Amino acid sequence: MTGGAPGGLPRISVDGGDVELRYMEPGDADAVLAFARSVPKHDLMFLQTDITTVEGVNGWVDDVLLGLAAVILATRAGEIIGFGAVARHEAIWMRHIADLHVVVGTSWRGHGLGHRLASEGLTLARGLGVRRATTQMTLDQIAAMRTFRALAFVPVAVLHDQVSDTNGETYDLLLMHRDLDPGDGGGDEGDAAAS
Ligand SMILES: CC(C)(COP(=O)(O)OP(=O)(O)OC[C@H]1O[C@@H](n2cnc3c(N)ncnc32)[C@H](O)[C@@H]1OP(=O)(O)O)[C@@H](O)C(=O)NCCC(=O)NCCS
Repeated sequence: MTGGAPGGLPRISVDGGDVELRYMEPGDADAVLAFARSVPKHDLMFLQTDITTVEGVNGWVDDVLLGLAAVILATRAGEIIGFGAVARHEAIWMRHIADLHVVVGTSWRGHGLGHRLASEGLTLARGLGVRRATTQMTLDQIAAMRTFRALAFVPVAVLHDQVSDTNGETYDLLLMHRDLDPGDGGGDEGDAAAS
């Protein structure tokens, strides 16, 4: 999935500073682990893989190498400050669907980076030819809902008590999706540049 990305990724400006968007490579594993560990665990509960563990990040790297996933990293002065992940379903009967996830470092939120990463992820998903993009978040992630609503995702289901923290407390997960018209090259994906 890494090599097949449509077009290059832009350099953008976030809160007045240069931010580079680039695809994750195997050599980024340690930096991704450090970034994941810097984010509240609650903010990662929608992921299928626990990327705060070495095994989890290595699994992600394997998925990237196998072409099952692509991860767009946002870096500032070489440090990861956010990512957007696109994972395609492996099963042949779900190959038309890609799952999108976005996480921004806590001190970088509210400057448009989340929207930008989600847009780039959506553009990537469209370039892969999938017909539907899905995402999930716990019901308290208001910024996440707004990010995906702005990209025309709609809520489709609430999965009751779907995720659980280390204390055993459970949370509902909101499933959102957006159908992608293969002929639609336009849309709003690139509009809301980070500022
Ligand atoms: C969701 C997330 C990626 C957004 O990143 P961000 O860089 O802060 O997002 P942006 O600045 O681009 O803002 C995107 C939207 O969220 C809104 N938003 C940002 N911070 C907010 C906050 N604290 N409270 C409510 N809304 C907020 C913005 O107003 C914007 O909505 P709008 O387009 O309707 O104005 C970030 O909050 C995050 O990492 N959350 C934890 C992980 C998560 O839940 N990810 C989503 C699951 S896929």
